[in-house]
Amino acid sequence: MKSWASQVKEQIRKRYSRLAGENTFPPGGAERVLEAGYPSEWAKRTPTSVLGNYSGCGYLLEDVDLSDVSVAVDLGCGAGLDARLIASRMPAGATVIALDFTEAMLHRAREASDPNSSVATLPLCGDMEQLPLADGTVDIVFANASFNLATDKPAAFREAARILRDGGRLVARDMVRDRDLPAEVLQDPLSSSTSLGGAVPERELRNAIEVAGFTDIQIDGHTPFSYLTAVRITARKNG
Ligand SMILES: C[S@@+](CC[C@H](N)C(=O)[O-])C[C@H]1O[C@@H](n2cnc3c(N)ncnc32)[C@H](O)[C@@H]1O
Repeated sequence: MKSWASQVKEQIRKRYSRLAGENTFPPGGAERVLEAGYPSEWAKRTPTSVLGNYSGCGYLLEDVDLSDVSVAVDLGCGAGLDARLIASRMPAGATVIALDFTEAMLHRAREASDPNSSVATLPLCGDMEQLPLADGTVDIVFANASFNLATDKPAAFREAARILRDGGRLVARDMVRDRDLPAEVLQDPLSSSTSLGGAVPERELRNAIEVAGFTDIQIDGHTPFSYLTAVRITARKNG
C-alpha cells in the first residue's frame, strides 16, 4: 500500500504532466496574469504561449527588488512565467533556478525563458521537500501556488530555509483555507492535486514557516480565490 504522500504526489505529477505535455492549460491564462497584477508593459513583451500557461495565484514580484541578487530559485516553477520575469529583474550574470518535479513542466519552463537574457535560467528537476541544492547558496526563494501542494509543508519550508544564505528572503504567493472542507475532499488524494485539499489554515502555514527558522514573517494581501484565500508570504532567514 502506497503512503498518502506518494499517492498525492503521483496525482500531482499526473495532473501537471498532462497540462504541460498536452498543452491543456485552462483557458484565460493571459487574462489571469493581468488580473493578478503583473505589469501590463511586461506582459505585452511576453509571448502569449508563456502567459497562457500561468498557474499562479498572484503577482510574485510586488515590492521585490532583485538588483543585488545573484542566485534566485523558483520552487514549483511550472511553465516558467515567473522565472522569466525574475530573470528580467536580476543583474547580468545572475542565475535563476527553475525547479519543479514534473519533467513536462520543466520543458515548458525551458521554452519560456528569454533567449536574449543576460541572466541564466537553469531548469532543475527536484522535490521541494528534499531540494537538490547545497546549504546557504541562494539569495532568494520564490514559490507561486506550489507550497500548498507539498505533502509535508514543514519539510518544504525547512528546505527553503536550508538553501538560503543568512539574511536571504522567502517570497511566495499561496492559498490558505479559512473554512472546513468535507472529509471526502480532505481524504481524496485527487483533491490535494488541485490545491483544494492541500491548502491549510493560515495559522498552520505561519507555524510551518516559523518552525523552519524564518523571521519577519508577513502573510498579507488576502484575496478570495475560488473556495480558498490567496495570500502573499514574505519572510527572512536569520533577520
Ligand atoms: C499550481 S502550479 C504553479 C506553477 C507556477 N508556479 C505558476 O505560477 O504558474 C504548481 C507546480 O508545482 C509543482 N510541484 C508540486 N509539488 C511539487 C514538489 N513537491 N516539488 C516540486 N514541484 C512541485 C507542480 O509540478 C506544478 O508545476
